[in-house]
Amino acid sequence: MTDSPALPFWEEEHSRHFIDLGRIYTPRRDELQQAFIDLIPGWPDEQFTVAELACGTGWLAAGILENYERAEVIALDGSQTMRNEATRTLAEFGKRARVEHFVLEDQAWRQTLPDGLRAIVSSLTIHHLRGPAKQQLFADLLPKLAPGGGLIVCDLVEAAGNWSRRHFGLAWANDVNMQSNVFAGDDSAYRAFMNERWNYYENTPEENAGDYPDTIADQLQWLRDAGYVGVDVAWARAGHTLFCGYRG
Ligand SMILES: C[S@@+](CC[C@H](N)C(=O)[O-])C[C@H]1O[C@@H](n2cnc3c(N)ncnc32)[C@H](O)[C@@H]1O
Repeated sequence: MTDSPALPFWEEEHSRHFIDLGRIYTPRRDELQQAFIDLIPGWPDEQFTVAELACGTGWLAAGILENYERAEVIALDGSQTMRNEATRTLAEFGKRARVEHFVLEDQAWRQTLPDGLRAIVSSLTIHHLRGPAKQQLFADLLPKLAPGGGLIVCDLVEAAGNWSRRHFGLAWANDVNMQSNVFAGDDSAYRAFMNERWNYYENTPEENAGDYPDTIADQLQWLRDAGYVGVDVAWARAGHTLFCGYRG
């Protein structure tokens, strides 16, 4: 089934699970998608290229391609199962979408990404890197952006205190319960979310092995330290936080 080396913290079985349930597990994904689209520094009729790190099923790349009708997206993912799914999702965009293999932790793809990208986007994946590796990633990506280009990331962030952690966990569970009923017609997806221990904020450290979210305050500072400008938080829900920085 897979022709890719194993990923450090993600198995093909996780991809199958997330293809089925990611729409429900992600709080308010339509809202999130629109916020990503708004943050891309461009106009709907402009021609430019966006890279997506860990594209999953391709829902974000599809939203970008629909809204920016001359844009191209290079959609990268480490899972063969996900790349197959993204290839299906993005087929309607023809040559405007390219789905390719990458391993987030590797260095080589950072050099081979084309220069002059208008944006680099990523959703719910960079938390697999520890803090120093996130800092290195932010620094490595800046020169790949065109002047004015943006790095736009949504990720689980670490709670800075116990009360925000409690809220993040409760709010995430509530959203998944609501979305399970809306999209699946019952609470089956919510029960899977609870049984599979997907709620980072309610888990033990052992259950969260491989997940290394950092606080949003640290990550904004790391973007500024790397030289990004216009660093901001655009959207947040249940610990899922969309933040951005731009090349000056
Ligand atoms: C939680 S899913 C998020 C998918 C998509 N971005 C979304 O928001 O729905 C994590 C994604 O990261 C990919 N992934 C996980 N670890 C990776 C790694 N080390 N290198 C490359 N891709 C990885 C998985 O295949 C999966 O598509």
